[in-house]
Amino acid sequence: PAATPQAAQAAPAGDKIVFGHVGSMSGNEATFGDSTDKGIKLAVDEQNKKGGVKGKQIVVKTLDDQGKPEEAAVAATRLVTQDHATILLGEVASSRSLAMAPIADSNQVPMISPTSTNPKVTKDGDKTRPYVFRVCFIDPFQGTVMAKFATENLKVKNVAILRDVGNDYSVGLADFFAKKFQELGGKIVSDQSYKAGDQDFKAQLTAIKGKNPQAIYVPGYYTDVALISRQARELGMKQPLMGGDGWDSSKLYEIAKGALDGSYFSNHYTPEDPSPVIQEFVSKYKAAYGSVPDALATLGYDAAKVAINALESAKDLTGPSIRDAIEQTKGFKGVSGVITLDADHNAVKSAVVLGIEKNNAKYAATVNP
Ligand code: PHE
Repeated sequence: PAATPQAAQAAPAGDKIVFGHVGSMSGNEATFGDSTDKGIKLAVDEQNKKGGVKGKQIVVKTLDDQGKPEEAAVAATRLVTQDHATILLGEVASSRSLAMAPIADSNQVPMISPTSTNPKVTKDGDKTRPYVFRVCFIDPFQGTVMAKFATENLKVKNVAILRDVGNDYSVGLADFFAKKFQELGGKIVSDQSYKAGDQDFKAQLTAIKGKNPQAIYVPGYYTDVALISRQARELGMKQPLMGGDGWDSSKLYEIAKGALDGSYFSNHYTPEDPSPVIQEFVSKYKAAYGSVPDALATLGYDAAKVAINALESAKDLTGPSIRDAIEQTKGFKGVSGVITLDADHNAVKSAVVLGIEKNNAKYAATVNP
C-alpha cells in the first residue's frame, strides 16, 4: 500500500524501535537466555548512546519461553502483535527457533537467531524461510569439526553417541557427527538416547560401557551433559566426553564438579582469543555485568549489531525493507568473526574446540570452514 503520512509514522511503538527477544530466561537452559539478553542489551545501549537508529531509540523487550518451543511461539506472536516488534532476536535453541520461524515469516517480521545451528531453522528441505536469519555456523560443519578432532587429534576410532531425542539440535548434530566420523574411518559402537530433564542416565551409560568406546559424543545441553558426566564417572567410565556448543555455560562446571576434565566440545568463540576485537568486548562486557561473556552473550551481541546495521541501511523500517537489508549483510565485523550471510541466510565462520581442564574450558584448536 502507498505510504500515507500516517502510515510512514505508523510504527505503533511511536518513536521507538522494539527489538523482541525470545529466550529461555528460566528453566534448565536459563543461562542461554540470560547471556543472550545481556549481549543484546549491551549492543543496544551502545547504539542508543550514539543516537539510536534513524533518529529513534531502541528498546529491548524480552519474553521468557521457559525453554519450551510452544512458549517460544506464544512469545514471538505476542512480541509481533502486541509489542509491535520491528525485529525478533532469538532463540538460542534450534527447537525453539523452529517454533518461531513460521511466525516471523507469516508476519513479515525479520528474525535473527544468534546461535541456533540446526540447518532447518533457515531452510527446511526446499522450503526457504525468507524472514529468518542466523549469525552462526550450522551443524553439518559443527559435526565435522568434532569428527575431525576426534580422528586427528584424539586419535580415537570407536565412539558411542548419547543424544537427546526430543531436541532437533541434538539429533541433527549426532547424525552429522556420525556421518563424518564414519567417513573418516571411525566406528559408532553404540547410539543411545535420553530426553532433556532426565535424571538417571545409568541404563544408557551401562550399555555404552559394555561396548568400551574410546570416547562418547554427547551433543546435548549443559544441565543434562553435566549430570551424564558425573554418572559416567560413578560407573567407573574414564573415557573423554565430546560435545558441541550446547555445553557452553558456567553451570556446566558447577554441576559436573570436575567430571568433565579431559573432555572436549566445539564452540563459536573463546574469551581466551587474544585478538583485540575479542579482548575489548570481554572487558566491556565484564565492566557492564561482572562476568566473562560466553558464546551466547557474544553472539547475542553480534545478532543485535547485525540487526542495527541492517536497520541503518534499510530504506525504511518496514519488515520487507529490513529483511532485504539483512540479506545484504556482507563482511560485517562481528566479535565472533566476520559475518557474511550466504544464500540460505547462514553465516560461514570458523569454530573453536575447547578442552576441559581443572573444571574449566581451555582453548584447544580452531577449525576453519
Ligand atoms: N546451537 C544450539 C542449538 O541450536 C544452541 C546453543 C548455541 C547452545 C550456543 C549453547 C551455545 O540448539
